[in-house]
Amino acid sequence: MQCNKFDCHLTIILALGRLVMTHFIGSIRSKMVGSEIVEVIHSWSAPRSLSTSMMYSFAQRDDIEVLDEPLYANFLRLTGLDRPYRKELLSKMECDGNKVVSDIIFGPGRMKYRFCKHIAKQRTQGLTNDLMKKGKHFILIRNPLDILPSFDKVVAPSFFELGLAELVRIYNELRELGKPPPVIDAAELQQDPEGTLRGLCDDLEIPFQPTMLSWEAGPKSIDGLWAPWWYESIHKSTCFKQEKKYPQSFPFSLYDLLEQCLPLYNMLRRHVKKKSSSLLSPPLPLPNLPVPANEKVLVWVGDEIVPRDSAKVSVFDSVVQGGDSVWEGLRVYNGKIFELEEHLDRMFDSAKALAFENVPTREEIKDAIFRTLIRNGMFDNSHIRLSLTRGKKVTSGMSPAFNLYGCSLIVLAEWKPPVYDNTRGIVLVTATTRRNSPNSLDSKIHHNNLLNNILAKIEGNNAKADDALMLDIDGYVSETNATNIFIVKKGRVLTPPADYCLAGITRATVMDLVVKEDLILEERRISLSEVHTADEMWTSGTMGELSPVVKVDGRRIGDGVGPVTKRLQIAYKNLTQQSGVAIPNCLEN
Ligand SMILES: Cc1ncc(COP(=O)(O)O)c(C=O)c1O
Repeated sequence: MQCNKFDCHLTIILALGRLVMTHFIGSIRSKMVGSEIVEVIHSWSAPRSLSTSMMYSFAQRDDIEVLDEPLYANFLRLTGLDRPYRKELLSKMECDGNKVVSDIIFGPGRMKYRFCKHIAKQRTQGLTNDLMKKGKHFILIRNPLDILPSFDKVVAPSFFELGLAELVRIYNELRELGKPPPVIDAAELQQDPEGTLRGLCDDLEIPFQPTMLSWEAGPKSIDGLWAPWWYESIHKSTCFKQEKKYPQSFPFSLYDLLEQCLPLYNMLRRHVKKKSSSLLSPPLPLPNLPVPANEKVLVWVGDEIVPRDSAKVSVFDSVVQGGDSVWEGLRVYNGKIFELEEHLDRMFDSAKALAFENVPTREEIKDAIFRTLIRNGMFDNSHIRLSLTRGKKVTSGMSPAFNLYGCSLIVLAEWKPPVYDNTRGIVLVTATTRRNSPNSLDSKIHHNNLLNNILAKIEGNNAKADDALMLDIDGYVSETNATNIFIVKKGRVLTPPADYCLAGITRATVMDLVVKEDLILEERRISLSEVHTADEMWTSGTMGELSPVVKVDGRRIGDGVGPVTKRLQIAYKNLTQQSGVAIPNCLEN
């Protein structure tokens, strides 16, 4: 197939090749006799990444000369790769890579700058380090979804031919040399040529020239002699054009290769300053994290520990398909996980109630938690969001019969101090959204289907309150969108039964502490007016511990943070410091 394709181009290439190489060698000679040392700009890319258009764009400048893949012959000589123009190329281009680097790439010239278009895989072993150390560099990337079908039209693509691994290596080497190169995406060049070229020129510290925005159609004297095979469509172009609205179908024979290449492209894409907008919306600026240290956390997902940005579940996962998952929030105090066994008991009960199958064992889950905490060096002041989903499905849909891979475990540990102001207290408003009833969804199942609470939280946010108070189906107070509640009325501590609210682990602990502190505890339905007229109130939960409530629906509760609240806060704090399951010390291993 390819031979035929090549054959039909042969006559043209031979004629053009001679012409091009005469010019090429001529231009090299003129550089040798030229006077000044030129500043070299290296462009590194995979093939089919708009690198030739970029070369045409730079060639329009009045201060630049360009070189089209000066290391190509060296690359063909060393790899032995076949190309229809191999013989001609080897006979007409300098084949000694280091000579190319010293005499051609860094040779003298008459222009201020020299633009070298390099294809990353052509940086073969044994080339002098000068290539990286000298000159300015930038990296041009393109989504392999676009590269692969385009490359396939000329040569059968392979991981090596795409050279994305080499491109990543070049990026990292330059970074280690203290000169991280600007990375631009071909998509942004197509969407906003001027903005992207201006940005690139700024990064390269050269003035932008508007002539870079268009060029005459090819062929061109600056083309390498391989142009007839590779530049057919480029020759028709006269500027960076918007991509067609819809791409062509992807050839599925290249699916495996795409899977290998995509992570490398994505790795480099992270370094693109101006991300091209997605299909759906323009990119948002990077937000600040509430705790900046969490930018670099390691997360357990499935059966591996990965960095934050790689921590993802499958789109086939039940949690995506239907919020079909159970979860726990746990806290780490002083080298220990507080109430670990109680949280795991609730998690296993929730999973059983939801008829999960192929659930990991308690020991496996504990092991994943310990490993995640140890890897992160988190032995205090941290919170774990532990999720167990019903797992990946064989196809999208609702039925658990599609779940044939077993459950997926996620251990997300973050540095997180208690999330509420437990000294000055918090403000609540009552939401119109009612808490789920056991008629519809039993609150004893701690599931990830949190929309009921999220709707209430939105009401709280709109009212600029810290959280929202949720009533049960009969109008009695149940809990907040995220915590259980307690009130103090005439010396008695009251909390609603766990029929509508979650049977919180902290709630149970606080109930024990109330009894231990010789206070009177009543577990009964509480009406909203009892809350509005309470002497004291607090919320309880692992994430926020015990948080005094100072205002509900505009009514002040007691005189600020009350004595019973303070007493129980202290008792709870003491307990968290003393008890818990110790995290095995990694130094012991
Ligand atoms: C709705 C709701 N209520 C209460 C709580 C507090 O539960 P715990 O004390 O087990 O953290 C949570 C936390 O998961 C919750 O989501």
